[in-house]
Amino acid sequence: FSLKNYNTFGIEASAKQFVAVHSIAQLKTILSANKNEKKFILGGGSNMLLTKDIDALVIHIDLKGKKTIKEDDDFVWVESQAGEVWHDFVLYTIDNNFGGLENMSLIPGNVGTTPVQNIGAYGAEIKDTFVSCDAMNIATQEMKTFTNAECNFGYRESIFKHEVKDQYIITSVVFKLTKRNHKINTSYGDILAELAKNNITEPTLKDVSNAVIAIRKSKLPDPKELGNSGSFFKNPIVLKSDFEKIHQKFPEMKYYEVSETEVKVPAGWLIEQAGFKGKRFGDAGVHKNQALVLVNYGNATGQEILAVSKEVQKTVFETFGIHIEAEVNVI
Ligand code: EPU
Repeated sequence: FSLKNYNTFGIEASAKQFVAVHSIAQLKTILSANKNEKKFILGGGSNMLLTKDIDALVIHIDLKGKKTIKEDDDFVWVESQAGEVWHDFVLYTIDNNFGGLENMSLIPGNVGTTPVQNIGAYGAEIKDTFVSCDAMNIATQEMKTFTNAECNFGYRESIFKHEVKDQYIITSVVFKLTKRNHKINTSYGDILAELAKNNITEPTLKDVSNAVIAIRKSKLPDPKELGNSGSFFKNPIVLKSDFEKIHQKFPEMKYYEVSETEVKVPAGWLIEQAGFKGKRFGDAGVHKNQALVLVNYGNATGQEILAVSKEVQKTVFETFGIHIEAEVNVI
């Protein structure tokens, strides 16, 4: 079974077996019937690089549905099943005038994988509105609810990448969103500039969403046109004491304070300065508008993209002494 249409990098790789799951009951049946089989859980395929065929039963989570489960005068609790497309879910919340997800418009992938890496963009992260998620234990098929606190969210981090890695399948997620007094967040400079272009001074949720969509379209390649997985690397977090030495050598280096002892450096800047922006190696390359994104121009293999990523990491380290870590799951 070809996975080419199931990963946004558009990599040709095959699965030994493949099944799409449409209900919790079906998921239970499949897991218990395949206890001793190797299993691989696939969501939207937007945050992974396949470097080989998958010698396992691939279970594609295609649970659909979204609804309000609770509300008061100010807030609404909205639940989405894991297989909903994230951006469609965001638009649905905006159409209902529910606030909180608008800054995360157009992020590729499905709702069920958003907690795994605590997706974020333009000044928002899902941990800000996430209430809980339900997940099925792969070994026992028991359901468990993970609260926000239990998820241990951090920058592109959660418990699902660590303590319970590969143990659970997230089946649904609940977000708490505003019904009025929306906290419009235009702190990320690009958004204000985009709104100003359209003379918008009091933006609605829809205006913020549209601004984010316009910014993303100008910088980030559309996976339907050019295979990619968004940011391939995380922005590295560096100790201030180390950073000060590096900054003396490279005074133009950009950085953001993240704590009293740490700063975050934009990996896109490091990669661009290291000379990789827009570089192409066969069908694999570094995107011309955003150096954090690796792209597949057509028939690149996962190995070829991985090789480019290693070359980028090596040169960035040799140039700046900073290690940049992959954000994408390399399979
Ligand atoms: N920069 C460069 N060259 C580049 C790219 C960026 O110099 O090629 C500089 C920019 O000039 C800017 C800074 O780096 O000063 C930050 O750039 P940008 O606003 O584009 O954001 P980013 O830090 O590169 C992060 C997220 C993105 C998210 C944006 C906006 C990570 C790994 N990436 O990128 O998330 O959309 O912020 O919030 O944190 C993703 O995770 O897939 C993703 C696209």
